[in-house]
Amino acid sequence: MTLIDRIIRPEIRALSAYVVAPAQGMIKLDAMENPFGLPEALRAEVGAALAQADFNRYPPAGADPLRALLCETMQVPAGYDVLLGNGSDELIHLLLQACAKPGAAVLSPSPSFVMVQMSALFNGVHYLDVPLLPDLTLDLNGMLAAIEQHQPALIFLAYPNNPTGTLYTDAQIEAILKAAHGLVVVDEAYRPFAPASWMSRLPEFDNLLVMRTLSKLGLAGIRLGYMAARPGLLSEFDKVRPPYNVNVLTQTAAMVLLRHIDVLDAQASVLRAERGRLVAGLAGLTDVHVYPSAANFLLVRFAASAPALSAGALATEVFLYLKSRGILVKNMSNSHVLLAGCLRITVGSPDENRQLLDALRVAPLAVGS
Ligand SMILES: Cc1ncc(COP(=O)(O)O)c(C=O)c1O
Repeated sequence: MTLIDRIIRPEIRALSAYVVAPAQGMIKLDAMENPFGLPEALRAEVGAALAQADFNRYPPAGADPLRALLCETMQVPAGYDVLLGNGSDELIHLLLQACAKPGAAVLSPSPSFVMVQMSALFNGVHYLDVPLLPDLTLDLNGMLAAIEQHQPALIFLAYPNNPTGTLYTDAQIEAILKAAHGLVVVDEAYRPFAPASWMSRLPEFDNLLVMRTLSKLGLAGIRLGYMAARPGLLSEFDKVRPPYNVNVLTQTAAMVLLRHIDVLDAQASVLRAERGRLVAGLAGLTDVHVYPSAANFLLVRFAASAPALSAGALATEVFLYLKSRGILVKNMSNSHVLLAGCLRITVGSPDENRQLLDALRVAPLAVGS
């Protein structure tokens, strides 16, 4: 037995590290980033604020001013507070860590955001999933049965869901909130692109937490996630938060940028309009199905009409073809049985989307129009 075999948990040894595809010089439509940078004047304002930051000190541990500004900007209900994370990824870890009693379980529809399953594994929590229905909508009966049978400590609902882009209905989420024995986390990472939110409904449900991030709004680089819930609940999760988890650069930049939220909101509005144009363009291709999306990405299924090629193989060919043209999207085809033949395409700038559609139209594959 090697030192590593003796020391590292077998379930960790069996994993591969999270792979981020190299994207130097490519049109990057794989990671749900906002393609627009910050305007020059705003960059300068952030730069000036950063120049004044106390680099020699630990950051303000509670980040009180930033929390207050986030609550105000994001319409967190009165009497409710937020917990901050180094991205919402960290908040997911904190939730799992705090709830990891022996035998505890976390439930999520699948396919959904992979970090929940990873975090469950890291924290020794049972991960339970209920597959979506074949049309990628929620299997509510399946979810309710799993809740009854396993009584999960946590239920994660990405709203809209990654990678499908679907919004579950109000009635479905209400039924889950009422049936749950534990906590229900509504993960609104894609809030800037969605027509609805559960934030204002926090006071109705004691077991509801609403999680969000600034990543998709245009600030993926600063890594700032936040989670709102009633104070008694948040303070428990705050106990597992590393005291200085949000660094001074992030806190300082966010304080400036949240005061200019209109700039980021305007960019999100362009992307929502671009999403519509992209849907229309993709729908004009042969053998392509585009799922309705309330996020800044589209799940697209390539159905091979040529019997020699499976849907999965066609999606992979399209993925590789786009890559050869300098366009990076995410191949979901092998990630879940319900996603065979699927690519996930982030909505880019008008020019990037045009280049994507142009490339697909002239593709030497079954999909060209
Ligand atoms: C549903 C969902 N939640 C959370 C995240 C993570 O966001 P962050 O950048 O804040 O860690 C993602 C990122 O893709 C996501 O899709």
